[in-house]
Amino acid sequence: MPVPYTKIECTKPLHQRLNHWLDNFFPEHVTLTRSDQKSDNWRKFFKGTPRFEMTGKIADVNDGSKADPLTGRQHGGVYPYIQFGMYEGQEKFTNPRDAGYNFADRLVQILDVQGQTEIGSVQQHRVTVNSDELLSMPPKVQADIIRVAAEEGRHLYQVVWMLDSQRDNWVWTGHASNPGEDTIDKLLNIQMGEYRLEAFNIKWGNILDAGVYMCLIDLVGKYQLEMQTFSSYLPMSRSMACMLDEEFFHTGTGRGMFFSYIEQGAKENGRYCLNEVQRTFNLWFAYALEMFGDIRGGQTNITLGIKAKTNYEAQNEYLHEVRTQVVRSANRRIAQIREPKGDPSKVDLGEDTFYLPDTKFFRRQSIEEIFEPYDVHGRLMKLTPEEYFKYLATVLPEYYCISEDFERYKSHYRDAWKDGAKQIKKHLEFPEAEGAGGAVPMK
Ligand SMILES: [Fe+2]
Ligand SMILES: [Fe+2]
Repeated sequence: MPVPYTKIECTKPLHQRLNHWLDNFFPEHVTLTRSDQKSDNWRKFFKGTPRFEMTGKIADVNDGSKADPLTGRQHGGVYPYIQFGMYEGQEKFTNPRDAGYNFADRLVQILDVQGQTEIGSVQQHRVTVNSDELLSMPPKVQADIIRVAAEEGRHLYQVVWMLDSQRDNWVWTGHASNPGEDTIDKLLNIQMGEYRLEAFNIKWGNILDAGVYMCLIDLVGKYQLEMQTFSSYLPMSRSMACMLDEEFFHTGTGRGMFFSYIEQGAKENGRYCLNEVQRTFNLWFAYALEMFGDIRGGQTNITLGIKAKTNYEAQNEYLHEVRTQVVRSANRRIAQIREPKGDPSKVDLGEDTFYLPDTKFFRRQSIEEIFEPYDVHGRLMKLTPEEYFKYLATVLPEYYCISEDFERYKSHYRDAWKDGAKQIKKHLEFPEAEGAGGAVPMK
């Protein structure tokens, strides 16, 4: 059941600015928003769901009689009391000043990064929407993709609303200007290549990217939103609950596309073979993991009541979901196609087995093993940087291996291995993530 909500708007000039932003960046939204269009896709495909609008939404607040568990859906609205951290038991904050500098500062930073991810996804979706490949998809899938991209634009609206609605309360001693206003301005002017999270700086190569990205990257978004639904800052908690409902649609769209590429690959009757799907998966899985941040971190967010889980806990749950509901299901589908009458769990898929890459593969941020020559199964190889790049070209998408982002990766990797020895400072021991890929690192 979607959470009940109320529609809200930013102050008028900002509301207009955000609507112009969507008109410029994603004019295709009219096929969903305007009922006077020749093809009103919303009425055709999403009847019964409130029509997309470029506004904010805030979930209702429940009466607090029923405490929510820290997972799962909200009961009739978000819970009004803080459920963890140093403020546990208090009413959620409605003014960022109430919880002090540290809290407000962190909130602005989180909203800044979150806003960037929303803009970045709209820009990435443009590649698909501009391509002939979109027209090769069934009309419902085309409408789904346009809806996802438009909703990413609405998420930007929501982030801006959170900054705008408390416009004067982000100002505190020590800051020359208003961090809330500065962040809004920055968000509305940022360009691809400038995003803090690298996953959003990559230009997609094809529509396969769109499906795998929504399946893996939007799923990280779902985990982040879920954690923030329990935020001790009430406007965030109310905003995230509505965004979370939309995120389920995004991940569902991605998963559906991913499985259809898996099935076409297994039947060898589609545009992409299984190996191309796997390579694309390898790329986005590595980027998805970076989005959880350093897996030793996240405790301060819990103490302040901003997020409900540490980075490690969230990443582990994510790994479990991808392993059991995405990768395992992909192999079952391939097995059913190979041997329709056999038991899918007993069919030997050999080279066609779809695998979950190891968490150490192709990492550049966040963990100890960045810029190390790990293979997709987590085995540390004895390769020079140039030899390793050749290996990567066999397990990552071909278009990606001639991209600017890959050049950037190679240059950072070479810097790290200057003089033949890795220069990056080793960090302290950290708990091993639940083993992905089933391989033991040879380190
Ligand atoms: Fe989003
Ligand atoms: Fe999304």
